[in-house]
Amino acid sequence: MGNLNSELFAAIDSVADGAEEHELAASVRELMRQYRNRVDPRDQVLASDTDVVAYAAYRLPATFSAARSAFESAAASMPGFAPGTHLDVGGGMGAAVWAASSAWPSLRSTTVLEQSAPAIRLGRRIALRSTAPAVSGSEWERFRLTGAVPDGPRVDLATMSYVLNELPPQVQEDVVRSLARRAGTVVLVEPGTPEGYERIIAARAVLTSEGKSVAAPCPHGHACPITPGEDWCHFSERLNRSGIQRRLKFGTLGFEDEKYSFVAATSEPVERPDGRVLRHPHKRKGLVSLNLCTDAPGIEERLVSKRQGRTYRAARKAEWGDGWPPPEEAGH
Ligand SMILES: C[S@@+](CC[C@H](N)C(=O)[O-])C[C@H]1O[C@@H](n2cnc3c(N)ncnc32)[C@H](O)[C@@H]1O
Repeated sequence: MGNLNSELFAAIDSVADGAEEHELAASVRELMRQYRNRVDPRDQVLASDTDVVAYAAYRLPATFSAARSAFESAAASMPGFAPGTHLDVGGGMGAAVWAASSAWPSLRSTTVLEQSAPAIRLGRRIALRSTAPAVSGSEWERFRLTGAVPDGPRVDLATMSYVLNELPPQVQEDVVRSLARRAGTVVLVEPGTPEGYERIIAARAVLTSEGKSVAAPCPHGHACPITPGEDWCHFSERLNRSGIQRRLKFGTLGFEDEKYSFVAATSEPVERPDGRVLRHPHKRKGLVSLNLCTDAPGIEERLVSKRQGRTYRAARKAEWGDGWPPPEEAGH
């Protein structure tokens, strides 16, 4: 299997190359406006062929990168998990389809449920460029969620990436509950905003009430120690912007940081790290300060000094979102 990251980005470039750039730019402006003001669940945001190409060019690289990072974190806590079947709900142009195959190359079949016909057309076209069998052979079904996902065969993995935001609260709960019943493992990704975090925390409660264990990001199964309204659990993924992305986003920076919140919950055995690094570690001369979520109540500020030798060297390498201690340190 080739490098899915570069295959996806090449596929996006090729579809964007065939489009009129001023039309894409107008569509990007409108999509940005709609996503900034809350999406009205009655609206279909990705309504035209231009909209979906615009979304693929300006947003999909970021949602793919966030989903892949969330899935890799989940995979690290479930080392024995090798899913074969996957259901992605609200798939858009397939960000989570590509991301899941990158994190779990064992995947053999993926079904995507999506309401927008233009999104399905483009998602299928892009997927055919993949060397991953679950991506190139993915099956796309037009479906508008108004409650639980439709009945169907059990799947090993179900995902929803940047979709809860577009559903009314009761539908969010019904969809998540039905995914917990239909899939062994469920991973949900949302924007890394206070509201995105609150949707994730509500979904986490539904998943655990259905008997799932939290695999990531939480290093424990207790209630989240963060108080909504005061702070929010989220992570950040840096990605390079392509030329078309830079032009369409009217920005000059060569990269962007995508902030996301997520939860992975499963019926599989989990091997969680003792802690999770929240926020960029503060690295000073001879001292690293880590904000850690652990089994203990509250968020801990852990100071690691140069005198701690090996642990200190590990702390200098630690990044926001990493498990702590790193696996090679855990036995010491
Ligand atoms: C922000 S996009 C995310 C797309 C993709 N999952 C990603 O991560 O890039 C939200 C997607 O959810 C779909 N969606 C929103 N409400 C839906 C509903 N009620 N039923 C089915 N799909 C829905 C939209 O059409 C859109 O493709």
